[in-house]
Amino acid sequence: MLKNKNILIGITGGIAAYKAAELTRAFIKKGAHVKVIMTKNAAEFITPLTLRTLSRNPVYMDMFSLTGDFSIAHISLAREADVVVIAPATANVIGKIAGGLADDLLTTSVMATTAPVLICPAMNTNMYENPIVKGNLAKLAENGYRILEPAYGELAERTEGAGRLPEVPEIVDEVESILTAKDLAGEKIIVTAGPTQEPFDPVRFITNHSSGKMGYAVAAMARRRGADVVLISGPTALPKPRGVKFIPVTTALEMRDAVMKHLKDATVVIKAAAVADYRPATRAASKIKKKEGPLEIMLERNPDIIAEIGKKKGRRVVVGFAMETDNLIENAAAKLKNKNMDLIVANDLNQEGAGFQTDTNVITILDRKGGREALPLLDKTEVADRILDRVKKIL
Ligand code: CTP
Repeated sequence: MLKNKNILIGITGGIAAYKAAELTRAFIKKGAHVKVIMTKNAAEFITPLTLRTLSRNPVYMDMFSLTGDFSIAHISLAREADVVVIAPATANVIGKIAGGLADDLLTTSVMATTAPVLICPAMNTNMYENPIVKGNLAKLAENGYRILEPAYGELAERTEGAGRLPEVPEIVDEVESILTAKDLAGEKIIVTAGPTQEPFDPVRFITNHSSGKMGYAVAAMARRRGADVVLISGPTALPKPRGVKFIPVTTALEMRDAVMKHLKDATVVIKAAAVADYRPATRAASKIKKKEGPLEIMLERNPDIIAEIGKKKGRRVVVGFAMETDNLIENAAAKLKNKNMDLIVANDLNQEGAGFQTDTNVITILDRKGGREALPLLDKTEVADRILDRVKKIL
């Protein structure tokens, strides 16, 4: 997504400037070309050498340098940027941009660029809540600048409040989102993810190895592409994706209820969850104590959520997943047909890089007409994108 994109990072003089180093690294890791402009005050907090080393480019600070090449820095930097990110953005730089001032390399470049500009304010809470700063941010937003709300938490002076620079992955996600075409705008997408847990006493349950990574990637990508996303998730260790309506559930029955509650408005349902097919028939009120001899737990069937959706599919696009150890394509094709899906994403647990806990997946997408698209080993984010491409085609 960020591969070969030109990202211009503007760093201004706040204590969070040190996080810009990590941000630069994160962009480089994703294959972007990064150039950095630092204000004079930023260099009080972090050295240009650090940013030069991490960005693998000269660091730009001076409007009137005679040592660089012949191009006019603020014009060339502004022109080549696909996106500009100011992180951290102080009250001062926010005020200058909002007031139309351009008195250093960063503010002139921002003035000269036609690329989207993401401003990440970071400052003391009282400064951030100052009505003049608020007003300046509102004015910037009205003029098409993107503002990433600061996070709430501990600040440099040991007080708590709003004003922290959001964590690096959040800034990266926002930039990726800015650069993503909103081709799913207007769609309402339900994504289910993770395992379900089926308890048989207050301390024990039956579950499976699902990590939720595939479903979370689909939810995050659908949101980036402009959809309204409801993510219904069994218990996972993953951070909630930003910007989606998140509904945590535990059992298959809870997942079913949550899905049915949101189904009416949905235009797409993507069922990446590994729903337990069976649940213990009874749930003991107290912890079951061990006794001599074996313990029998009677299981009963859970409802098949996607099959239920298939029955009242209407114009919705329904995508299921099939994880198999044997006869992948035959089994997946049968599920697609029996459960009235539009697409089924089949993955073979025996393949290296596919399956539950990995960050990658190897999938084949089957459709109703018998079409098969086998994808190579890809990152789950990329897999999510490819699945959504197919959904988009059907829509
Ligand atoms: N699924 C569901 N509700 C269930 C079981 C499965 O909605 N109770 C959905 C899954 O989210 C997935 C698809 O059905 O999208 C296929 O799940 P899978 O467990 O592989 O298929 P089953 O039909 O349950 O077949 P089997 O367990 O026999 O392989």
